[in-house]
Amino acid sequence: MEKQILSVVDSRTNDRYEFPIENGAIRASDLRQIRSGADDFGLMSFDPAFLNTASCRSAITFIDGDKGILRYRGYPIERLAEKCTFLEVAYLILYGELPTELQLKNFVAGVTHHTMLHEKTKNFLEGFNHDAHPMGMFISTVAALSTVYPDARRVLDPESRELQIRRLIGKVPTIAAYAYRHSLGYPYIYPDDELSYTENFMNMLWRMVEPKYRANPVLARALDILFILHADHEQNCSTNVMRAVGSSQADPFVCTAAAASALSGPLHGGANEEVLKMLDEIGSKDNVRGYIEKVKAGHGKLMGFGHRIYKNYDPRARIIKWAADQVFVATGRNPKLDIALELEKIALEDEYFIKRKLYPNVDFYSGIIYQALGFKPEMFTVLFAIPRTVGWLAQWQELIQDPEQKIARPRQLYTGYDAREFVPIEKRAIRAAASR
Ligand SMILES: CC(C)(COP(=O)(O)OP(=O)(O)OC[C@H]1O[C@@H](n2cnc3c(N)ncnc32)[C@H](O)[C@@H]1OP(=O)(O)O)[C@@H](O)C(=O)NCCC(=O)NCCS
Repeated sequence: MEKQILSVVDSRTNDRYEFPIENGAIRASDLRQIRSGADDFGLMSFDPAFLNTASCRSAITFIDGDKGILRYRGYPIERLAEKCTFLEVAYLILYGELPTELQLKNFVAGVTHHTMLHEKTKNFLEGFNHDAHPMGMFISTVAALSTVYPDARRVLDPESRELQIRRLIGKVPTIAAYAYRHSLGYPYIYPDDELSYTENFMNMLWRMVEPKYRANPVLARALDILFILHADHEQNCSTNVMRAVGSSQADPFVCTAAAASALSGPLHGGANEEVLKMLDEIGSKDNVRGYIEKVKAGHGKLMGFGHRIYKNYDPRARIIKWAADQVFVATGRNPKLDIALELEKIALEDEYFIKRKLYPNVDFYSGIIYQALGFKPEMFTVLFAIPRTVGWLAQWQELIQDPEQKIARPRQLYTGYDAREFVPIEKRAIRAAASR
């Protein structure tokens, strides 16, 4: 193929530059060749919130936001959700190929082997108030595991990385379930190796005095599908944090805790909790139109709507809507679904939402299912963090193995003062706090 070139002329100097275009991008560092004079540092690109900056090459997840396409390693999300278990998809995301039966058996055994937590871990959890937010408990406990596994610092050792990956995938459901039971004051339930990943999670959440927990297969499958849908989503906010922290060669436990912290925000994984609060606030179908008018007038956002990348229906929302119907057969219909359906219907016909290409995202319906499964809204983001741990770790592996990557360190456009004379304390006047 003919070499693709971007030619630019700097109007300050009339100098002409040529930059190679590769994969639809130029290298931002090439811009540094553009200088207005000898002591010019070179041109930078300014991109707050990375709206148009690719920070890595990645072969894991493909999204076409305009067409509403999501694929893991080339496989459409719809097929994976229909045909696979969560750990099968986890294997695909981590290693690039769907596993054979033997590979899957070994992987499941490897992960299951690590579901137990060190007994001391329970002491960390005991320190939290009974009303501590489960996401805070989750983040802190994942970070604390870094002290239990100091060998995790050997991030350049592939064998160590592999071990930490299995540890983390094995332990995150246990941490999540312990955080949940801590908030209820229930005793912790040990993992059961005979159960599948999601069944075992349900066992650790909900087993009481029965000798063996038996998960409702419809609900266990629904949870498995939700986990598949949340497993990775290319360079989203929390994955970017995973890569940024990982680029300093910090261990994967603290990297995962940092990524989970990013996920906890209401504009990211915390959105599903906000959706439920919003549906509560709306209260009934009759109030939907009035609520939408308030949003259009600039009072808040329609939570669970809009996405940085999807400017079309989020394919995950469509699958979740389907899964919700299965769940409601087993649990009875969540009345909030009717409000959500009405909200979606009215919003999708409204000029404000059409013009801005705002569609329901993954969080719009997931909270309604989680609630029907018996979770309180505070647990929703934790339920997102469990499967996303797989994506974070796959992206972390890719980062560590990528020779082009270095410690992440953006530039800034400095807008502060030039050098100033120091003012001794007795001579300082009160000035308005500088916001710049
Ligand atoms: C996801 C989200 C953060 C993406 O933000 P973004 O890519 O920066 O998009 P912008 O904030 O630039 O939005 C573009 C326009 O749509 C509006 N908009 C975006 N999301 C909206 C929402 N949920 N409700 C109402 N208006 C919304 C913005 O106000 C803006 O309008 P303007 O052009 O008149 O200023 C944003 O859509 C949002 O906050 N959604 C609600 C939270 C949520 O569901 N998050 C989960 C994501 S999976």
